[in-house]
Amino acid sequence: MGWGAAGTVKVRTLGNHQIDPEALQEAHAEATDQGMEVIAVVGNACTTSTGTFDDLEMLASFAQQNDLWFHVDGAHGAAQIFSERNKVPLKGMERADSVAMDFHKMLGVPALCTGLFYRDSSDAYAAFSQEAAYLYENEQEEWWNLSKRTFECTKRMLSVAVFGIWEAHGHKLWESLVDRLVNRAHTAARAIAQRPQWELFAQPQSNIVCFRLKGADNAALRHAMLEHGPHYIVKTVLNGETWLRCTYQNPLTEDSDIEALLDRLEELAELLVS
Ligand SMILES: Cc1ncc(COP(=O)(O)O)c(C=O)c1O
Repeated sequence: MGWGAAGTVKVRTLGNHQIDPEALQEAHAEATDQGMEVIAVVGNACTTSTGTFDDLEMLASFAQQNDLWFHVDGAHGAAQIFSERNKVPLKGMERADSVAMDFHKMLGVPALCTGLFYRDSSDAYAAFSQEAAYLYENEQEEWWNLSKRTFECTKRMLSVAVFGIWEAHGHKLWESLVDRLVNRAHTAARAIAQRPQWELFAQPQSNIVCFRLKGADNAALRHAMLEHGPHYIVKTVLNGETWLRCTYQNPLTEDSDIEALLDRLEELAELLVS
């Protein structure tokens, strides 16, 4: 948001990486005591590292009680709103003042296609209004004039891709994509749980699954996979320890691909210690 680290107050999370409600109260009181003017609270839906959704209902109430703007970073997981089955962790998002959501993550729209949604559309103009006599004739809202609602002056109309898919297929296409991708993560979690040498960070709530091989150097394991293939895998560091991650974005990923990735990681782990 352009405030830098000094303009952001980090809030301690619970073991599952959800914002700790008590820590939130404490952080707010501490910041206020230090003379900071707190203006917004941001919830994650979901975190990129672990796929954890914050308790958005709790954050919405906190924002309401403290007269704060409530923003939801739903870049990754807000897309689950299209799924009857998988929208449950988004409960409370409807109370947000603004939501960011990527259509290019779970919804199959070519990158880049990010949406920024406001509860009150006039806020979009207020946030980005600029004085530029050579461009603007008036202060009026003009739905077709994107330069009044973005940082950029020249911008491709990203919503055309969203509109085109919606018109051609309806939202059911997105529901089936979300359900399939979240199902891939659940399938991976089951496969991991069946292998005793593996540890799952948490049951997936989205298309992200976070796991590690017990007793192994998981960072080295990932490097070995990148170097020797044939799969690609990402990682994160939680409390100083490396975990592996898969984010399923391809609906054509089969159960056999998931098993093959784990088999290959086990093979590479043996090579690393031999
Ligand atoms: C929660 C979250 N916020 C923001 C971003 C950044 O999104 P983008 O790469 O579309 O700018 C990501 C991307 O992984 C994300 O998962």
